[in-house]
Amino acid sequence: MEPIEIKEISNDRIGAAKMHFLDRVTEAGPKFGYLLIHLKALEKWADKESSKRPELNKEVFFLSIWLHDIGQVIGDKTDHAVNSETEVRRYLPEIGVGSETVEEVAHCVRSHRCKDVQPETLKLKS
Ligand SMILES: [Fe+2]
Repeated sequence: MEPIEIKEISNDRIGAAKMHFLDRVTEAGPKFGYLLIHLKALEKWADKESSKRPELNKEVFFLSIWLHDIGQVIGDKTDHAVNSETEVRRYLPEIGVGSETVEEVAHCVRSHRCKDVQPETLKLKS
């Protein structure tokens, strides 16, 4: 897998989620390299968007960014948004994220494909 330059990883729960995603993708192998390219582009967009929209809950926003596609490399072959939601509910409490935030992130990742579950807050379609 070609090395992808990723911005510095913060020493907080958002950084932990980012590292978790990067580790799972790296373990999954080179055929998932497209996810690193996708997330690098998304990270750039997210930085701009979050600075334009001070009303955003940055923790929910960035945890959702980093975990919305993790279901592509974790879980079975069902809808990756379902796998991502399952992983959010398993992983985020483990790193100390509160239940209200877990629910908000779970909704964001579950609805990011705008299919059977529609986004009620942020729109993260990919
Ligand atoms: Fe996705």
